[in-house]
Amino acid sequence: MGLKTFKALVVEETPDGRFVRKITDKALDDLPEGEVMVRVRYSSLNYKDGLSAIGNRGVTKNYPHTPGVDAAGVVAESSSEDFQPGDEVIVTSYDLGMNTSGGFGQYIRVPASWVVPLPTNLTLRESMAYGTAGLTAAFCIYRLMDYGITADQGDILVTGATGGVGSFAVAILAKAGYEVVAVSGKVAEKKFLTELGAKEVIARDEAVDTTGKPLLKGRWAGVVDTVGGDILSTAIRSTKLHGAVTCCGNVASPELPLNVYPFILRGVTLIGIDSQSCPMSLRRRTWEKIANEWKLDNLDRQTTDCSLEQLNHEIDRILEGQQKGRVIVNLPE
Ligand SMILES: NC(=O)c1ccc[n+]([C@@H]2O[C@H](COP(=O)([O-])OP(=O)(O)OC[C@H]3O[C@@H](n4cnc5c(N)ncnc54)[C@H](OP(=O)(O)O)[C@@H]3O)[C@@H](O)[C@H]2O)c1
Repeated sequence: MGLKTFKALVVEETPDGRFVRKITDKALDDLPEGEVMVRVRYSSLNYKDGLSAIGNRGVTKNYPHTPGVDAAGVVAESSSEDFQPGDEVIVTSYDLGMNTSGGFGQYIRVPASWVVPLPTNLTLRESMAYGTAGLTAAFCIYRLMDYGITADQGDILVTGATGGVGSFAVAILAKAGYEVVAVSGKVAEKKFLTELGAKEVIARDEAVDTTGKPLLKGRWAGVVDTVGGDILSTAIRSTKLHGAVTCCGNVASPELPLNVYPFILRGVTLIGIDSQSCPMSLRRRTWEKIANEWKLDNLDRQTTDCSLEQLNHEIDRILEGQQKGRVIVNLPE
């Protein structure tokens, strides 16, 4: 291969401890070891990328660094029997974009064990409309269903509903036949959420109870929470007998003010979701569901495209909680 450098967004730490982002040419030789090198065609923006871009050491320890926990593209080189040059593939999570150079660059090099063949019914761009956020929403729903929550048991609450995980949770749940109530801080986006399939949209303050009551009126058969804090606490205390709640995020708070009563008096189950370490078998099964029975009809409704140059602004917006749906990053030649 004649090419020696590629374009990437790089986050650098300045001597006075600030973090700055710029588009630079990176050397292919500087990519980490790995069996599969992928020419990235699309990436997408997740909240975690925002944290990596501002120097959050819980996400990224060493800088300079290229974030991007998601990538979809074409295999450029492979020493693995499982992948050949020209194969279309998806790589999400594991260590991609955390301490491994990520999808906000035209090339990544990763272990073959991180690589998922693109499902037949999905394009590379569509896969990045979902990305880690869509995959995480799908995991949450998969776990609720697996637990036994069915559509006839009642409403499912989705929090952070206009965000990446939230908007895909609303849309996939509606597609799977569930009645969805969406919580959002963006009152102006009621129409967006209704079009995605929410039957009702409630404001954030209506979804928060700080009275300290251990149990509230049981309203939800299940909950997909993406924000944590008082909203998650309220959701758990408002879950009906033997309902289940998935927990995947902390944009509101990592705290969970709660006592044991929802668990011991109502048999509520709290299900933790960690897409990063999700086993490959479940990962592939979930991508297949996304590409087939859960495939959404109008992905463009909840996606915005941007270039590497426009990404800086989109990173600021996700950190401010202002994104609606998903941002797909285009990485053309
Ligand atoms: N565990 C995992 O495997 C996993 C995987 C992916 C993501 N995550 C986590 O899931 C969370 C959501 O990720 P994302 O990519 O969907 O982020 P996102 O696109 O930024 O969506 C988050 C949404 O939460 C709401 N929100 C923002 N600030 C809030 C606040 N202070 N209080 C209450 N709600 C607030 C906003 O929606 P509204 O305006 O509609 O309320 C926002 O759009 C993040 O914490 C992320 O790290 C975890």
